[in-house]
Amino acid sequence: MLLKTVFLLVLVAQVLMLDNGLLRTPPMGWLAWERFRCNTNCDEDPKNCISERLFMEMADRLAQDGWRDLGYIYLNIDDCWIGGRDANGRLVPDPKRFPHGIAFLADYAHSLGLKLGIYEDIGNLTCMGYPGTTLDKVVQDAWTFAEWKVDMLKLDACFSTAKERATGYPKMAAALNVTGRPIAFSCSWPAYEGGLPPNVNYTRLAEICNLWRNYDDVQDSWGSVLSILDWFAEHQDVLQPVAGPGHWNDPDMLIIGNFGLSLDQARAQMALWTMLAAPLFMSTDLRTISAQNMDILQNPLMIKINQDPLGIQGRRIRKEKFYIEVFMRPLSNEASALVFFSRRTDMPYHYRCSLSMLNFNRSLTYEAEDVYSGDVITGLREETDFTVIINPSGVVMWYLYPIKNLEMSQ
Ligand SMILES: *[C@@H]1O[C@H](CO)[C@@H](O)[C@H](O)[C@H]1NC(C)=O
Ligand SMILES: *[C@@H]1O[C@H](CO)[C@@H](O)[C@H](O)[C@H]1NC(C)=O
Ligand SMILES: *[C@@H]1O[C@H](CO)[C@@H](O)[C@H](O)[C@H]1NC(C)=O
Ligand SMILES: *[C@@H]1O[C@H](CO)[C@@H](O)[C@H](O)[C@H]1NC(C)=O
Repeated sequence: MLLKTVFLLVLVAQVLMLDNGLLRTPPMGWLAWERFRCNTNCDEDPKNCISERLFMEMADRLAQDGWRDLGYIYLNIDDCWIGGRDANGRLVPDPKRFPHGIAFLADYAHSLGLKLGIYEDIGNLTCMGYPGTTLDKVVQDAWTFAEWKVDMLKLDACFSTAKERATGYPKMAAALNVTGRPIAFSCSWPAYEGGLPPNVNYTRLAEICNLWRNYDDVQDSWGSVLSILDWFAEHQDVLQPVAGPGHWNDPDMLIIGNFGLSLDQARAQMALWTMLAAPLFMSTDLRTISAQNMDILQNPLMIKINQDPLGIQGRRIRKEKFYIEVFMRPLSNEASALVFFSRRTDMPYHYRCSLSMLNFNRSLTYEAEDVYSGDVITGLREETDFTVIINPSGVVMWYLYPIKNLEMSQ
């Protein structure tokens, strides 16, 4: 009887999730906005303006520089691509900046083993003032995106009312489904409702969207990264349980490789976003990124943790008075990821800790691999004291697993 009940509950839970089969792990790729914004000045800045040239050059980099093979497959357009609507009301891209059209760009991405994402807005206008997808245009625009062979839609919500959003997001989810094309659906809806219940119903959202922006846009600064992290950690009791395969919280893009972060801060954003089971959308110039920043973004163990098949979001489990925090994310095969994070501004801090302090309570022997240095720390039992040395605004990240399990799998 108990078994039967559990089985039924599982079935019900599955039926209630958005059922397009997409994004069983957080999406990875590249998104134009944070780095390239609404630069439409192709006359003076042809290399960096929002244009098919920019997306094709990023596609080439994704395919040729190892990104695609590590999972960074989405090439995503943001605002400022639209030229208007034609006589039939159909969206058309800016003819000067996208002379070959979006279907051409999608074909190009697909020919390189990538996927193409596009952007619209469930309001009168997009955030930058281009034609929006008003409620009467939802079905037509869904068909247009499907015909272009687009693979993801980010639907923003500037210039819309709460009522339009409550109608528009479910309507778009249904319209995308009717096209028959699998199109991952990224919703900015919760960010426009304050990101929290009762204004946001996350159960409902998971039935409609594959990922959602909960909070403010990331900007190119450490302060911005910290403010986003703080909001997600502060509200983790609400946010942590609602993430899972096919439906993710999105704390916004990775700004690694740009101008606002030190090397330690870049490592910290990558580690902390991975703990949040966040989508990994880079927004940086892949044509000029440094080897050091590439190493951070292409760390194979980091990506394995981000893409863990259980898809359980991590939590902040310690917040010390002396500005050290610890995050923990449970992973498959009884492994976990730990991030020791310093918000200090003085010098590398020697943080004394033990697994029992981190709520580990099974009498197993563990081994930890330092995700950035590759060092292996072995013979850890719950009562073993250890010290990690954490740089100011930096992290130490561990992949931790019971040794017994390791022996079994070898
Ligand atoms: C549409 O929804 C149905 C039922 O939820 C699902 O089985 C199907 O895979 C969906 N199709 C697409 C293209 O999302
Ligand atoms: C959208 O445009 C309509 C028609 O011009 C206007 O009545 C409405 O107030 C606008 N909505 C928003 C949220 O700006
Ligand atoms: C949230 O949405 C779910 C699924 O649609 C629904 O069952 C539930 O009643 C909603 N909760 C609230 C508080 O409205
Ligand atoms: C061990 O830790 C888990 C997870 O933190 C907790 O649910 C469980 O109650 C703990 N068991 C004991 C015996 O303390």
